[in-house]
Amino acid sequence: MATHKLLLLPGDGIGPEVMAEVKRLIGWLNAKGLASFETEDGLVGGAAYDAHGASISEADMTKAKAADAIIFGAVGGPKWDGVPYDVRPEAGLLRLRKDLGLFANLRPAVCYPALADASSLKREIVEGLDIMIVRELTGGVYFGEPKTITDLGNGQKRAIDTQVYDTYEIERIARVAFDLARKRRNKVTSMEKRNVMKSGVLWNEVVTSVHVREYKDVTLEHQLADSGGMNLVKYPKMFDVIVTDNLFGDMLSDIAAMLTGSLGMLPSASLGEVDAKTHKRRALYEPVHGSAPDIAGKGLANPIAMLTSFGMALRYSFDLGALADKLDAAIAAVLASGLRTADIKAEGSTPASTTQMGEAIIKELEKLT
Ligand code: NAI
Ligand code: MG
Repeated sequence: MATHKLLLLPGDGIGPEVMAEVKRLIGWLNAKGLASFETEDGLVGGAAYDAHGASISEADMTKAKAADAIIFGAVGGPKWDGVPYDVRPEAGLLRLRKDLGLFANLRPAVCYPALADASSLKREIVEGLDIMIVRELTGGVYFGEPKTITDLGNGQKRAIDTQVYDTYEIERIARVAFDLARKRRNKVTSMEKRNVMKSGVLWNEVVTSVHVREYKDVTLEHQLADSGGMNLVKYPKMFDVIVTDNLFGDMLSDIAAMLTGSLGMLPSASLGEVDAKTHKRRALYEPVHGSAPDIAGKGLANPIAMLTSFGMALRYSFDLGALADKLDAAIAAVLASGLRTADIKAEGSTPASTTQMGEAIIKELEKLT
C-alpha cells in the first residue's frame, strides 16, 4: 500500500478544533490498515504570524510543495485585525494557492436528506441535490492588470479592475469540469456573460472547442451567469457540473452552498495541473468556512466540512473514492440518527460537541468497513 504524505495546516480559531477530528480519522484509517498516511504539522495564518511574523514560513512552503496533499483548516480572527496587509492571515492561503498553481476550485453542494429542511428552499426543490461547482481560481478579474485607483484631480477617482483570460487557462479548467462530469452524471453547464464581456466570448468559444475535440460524450450547455444564478435557485437539480470564472464562481458557489444548509457542512478542493512525469497534481483541501471566532475554543464547531474536505482528498488525490463514499455514508447515517452540532440542530435539542460528532462518524464508518 502506498504511503501518502500530508501537510496539515490547522490555522486559527476553530481550524485546530476541526483538524483534530481529521487527525482522529487518519489515525483510525492507518490503524485499520485501510490507508497509509504520514502527516506533518505546519503553521499558517495568525498562528504562523505569532510564531515568526509571516503568514506562512518558507520552511512550511517547502513542506507544502513536497506534500502529496495539504489539509487546511481556517485562518484569521480579530486578534490579527491590525497586522500589515502583506502578512495578514489570509495572505498565507493566497500564497499557497498562487505558488502551488491551484487553479481549479471544486465546491460540491450536496443536500443530505436529513438536512433538507435546513435549506432556505423547499425540501422538494433541494432533496437529493448534488452539484459540483468548478471555479477558475488563479485568473480573471481578481488578478488582472491594470488594477488601480487613480485620482482624476476634479474631485473624482477612477477604479479599474481588469478581467484577463488566456486560452490555456480556460482549456485547463474546462478539462477539469469535463473529467469530473464523466465520473458523475455526464453534464457540464458553462457560465459566462458573452453578451457583454469579451472574456465571456472567449470562454464560451474555448469551452466549446475543448468539448468538440475531447469530450463529445459529455453533454455541454451554456448559460449566461445571471440567468444561471436564477436557475440555480429555482431549478437547482438541473445542474451536474458548473464551470465558470473566478468572479462568477465566487458568487455562484456561495449561493449553491446556502441551498444545502450550514457553512459547517461545505468542503472544497483546490487543484493544480497534473504533472506529466508523475501524473500527480498539487492539491489543497479546506472547508469553505472561516475560523469562526464567535464559537472558537468552545468545542461547538461542526467538523463535517473539514472531514468531507479530507474525503475529497481521498477521492481526488489518492484514488480512494470507495473509502470517500463510505465516509459520506457514515456522515449521512449520523445525521439521520439525529446527532447534530449546534449549527444544524433542531430547536430545543441538545447539540453534540465537535468531538462527539467526529467520534460518532468513525463509529458508523467502523460498521461500513
Ligand atoms: P466564518 O465562516 O468564520 O463564520 C461565519 C458564521 O458561521 C459564524 O457564525 C460561525 O460561527 C459559523 N460557522 C462557520 N464554520 C462553522 C462550523 N464549522 N461549525 C459551526 N458554525 C460555523 O466567517 P466570518 O465570521 O466571516 O469570518 C471569521 C474569520 O475567518 C475572519 O477573520 C475571516 O477573514 C476568516 N475567514 C477565513 C477563511 C479561510 O480560512 N479560508 C474563509 C472565510 C473567512
Ligand atoms: Mg467567497
